[in-house]
Amino acid sequence: MSQLTDEIARRRTFAIISHPDAGKTTLTEKLLLFGGAIHIAGAVKSNKIKKTATSDWMEIEKQRGISVATSVMGFEYDGYKINILDTPGHQDFAEDTYRTLTAVDSVIIVVDVAKGVEQQTRKLMEVCRMRNTPVIIFVNKLDREGRDPFDILDELEQELHIAVRPLSWPINIGAKFKGVYNIFERSLDLFTPDKQKVTERVEIDSLSDPRIDQAVGETDAAKLREDLELIEGVYPEFDVDDYLSGSVAPVFFGSALNTFGVKELLDCFVKIAPTPRAVTAEERTVEPAEEAFSGFVFKIHANMDPNHRSCIAFVKVCSGKFERNAPYRHIRSGKTLKFAAPTAFMAQKKSIVDEAFPGDIVGIPDTGNFKIGDTLTESETLHFKGLPSFSPEMFKYIENTDPMKSKQLEKGIQQLMDEGVAQLFTNQFNGRKIIGTVGQLQFEVIQYRLLHEYGAQCRWEPLSLYKACWIESDDQQALEAFKRRKHQFMATDREGRDVFLADSSYVLQMAQSDFPKIRFHFSSEF
Ligand code: G4P
Repeated sequence: MSQLTDEIARRRTFAIISHPDAGKTTLTEKLLLFGGAIHIAGAVKSNKIKKTATSDWMEIEKQRGISVATSVMGFEYDGYKINILDTPGHQDFAEDTYRTLTAVDSVIIVVDVAKGVEQQTRKLMEVCRMRNTPVIIFVNKLDREGRDPFDILDELEQELHIAVRPLSWPINIGAKFKGVYNIFERSLDLFTPDKQKVTERVEIDSLSDPRIDQAVGETDAAKLREDLELIEGVYPEFDVDDYLSGSVAPVFFGSALNTFGVKELLDCFVKIAPTPRAVTAEERTVEPAEEAFSGFVFKIHANMDPNHRSCIAFVKVCSGKFERNAPYRHIRSGKTLKFAAPTAFMAQKKSIVDEAFPGDIVGIPDTGNFKIGDTLTESETLHFKGLPSFSPEMFKYIENTDPMKSKQLEKGIQQLMDEGVAQLFTNQFNGRKIIGTVGQLQFEVIQYRLLHEYGAQCRWEPLSLYKACWIESDDQQALEAFKRRKHQFMATDREGRDVFLADSSYVLQMAQSDFPKIRFHFSSEF
């Protein structure tokens, strides 16, 4: 095998997603601990904005600072190169999370055993389903009282619309929690609550091994055998292809805080999780093992220092080998660019790298060349798909409050939109600019950053809208008729596409039934 195929085969690039507080940060940290990337627990700072602190600017600044440091965490484990892509915990940054999901090959979902499936988990799972992303579920906090594991499995299936298959099984829960039987490896791990150390493993030959009874007591051993019999009866044999196609999610149980069940998860993960997958461009499908380098920008992170308007563009390598100082073509501008200081993210350190392989993320210092979704190649014209804008959920008119600074405001808005902080629409009727976001916090971030980084002042004017839909039709006349009828509610996105602003779900339904020749889309890629 060539160096390239070797490197691809050992790469696992994934994201951990969860509803806030389910234990994503804790699990990430424990995985890094196993990878030797950090040496003590508590080293990964929580990257979440406190839920109450929506107007706390220090928190926002902190979030931006911390999230660049922990955006990508690479480490070596058992010969594998693992890249964990961090996603923001706060739901107002959901758009950021969606984009990060376009750069991963699989996902681990963390669910709190007491709370079950929560709202954000549901939403994120929808994005995974759209892309057929393979998913492993980790049911966390087994050291606390929680729900019956069978109930949790049912709920996961119903709420996440995916078949599940337990690959580990808990012996009791909460105060009586004794351990986890590893179905995947057919071994038994006993629980010793410890935040730093790894679990104690009991060697067993089979489920009837009396060592199980000795370890957990006869009653619990009998219950375990009964549960496992039920599992074998109810759930089909685990088939790795079903996992890889995104139709079955293996489930593990444990306690991230106590480092319990985490190694089982990691050991199974590296064996079954996909290597970097082929990526679809508008022109063709690009295989990772192709010799020529290609990659795309899925995230842009602004510098914290307002005096230096530089950014880091996060490039996911899709094919070939990325090399420092090699000339690459920036497809959108047609320019040839060379990168003298690309960084890789190993553990929590950033360091300059000479090369990177498919599945890796390189950070490229940038002074305004890049926009989210941009493609880089050796020469071929490619436009990678899969970075759609989703319909925002909140809308406001943005107004300039300092006429002397209208240029700065314009520039600030453009750059913040390039970074993907929010979406900009221009009303075709009155020419006013509308900013659409997924949460209130973005409006505050935009206003704050416009002032501090561009010296521009803005104010928001309320605008009550339900959704922005991208519209299209095969019938040009029907399209024109629709636009005439709805001219007050037509806007243009930054790419010049027509967007219909529906002010209520009723209006949208009526439009859909009155104009059957028009297709309404809730994301910009269709
Ligand atoms: P998040 O990134 O998904 O938002 O969750 P995070 O890891 O920050 O965990 C949320 C809270 O749940 C933390 O407590 C964390 O210590 C706790 N936790 C995580 N895993 C487990 C577990 O297996 N068992 C138990 N009992 N608790 C767990 P916190 O009090 O909010 O924060 P901290 O002060 O402990 O950091």
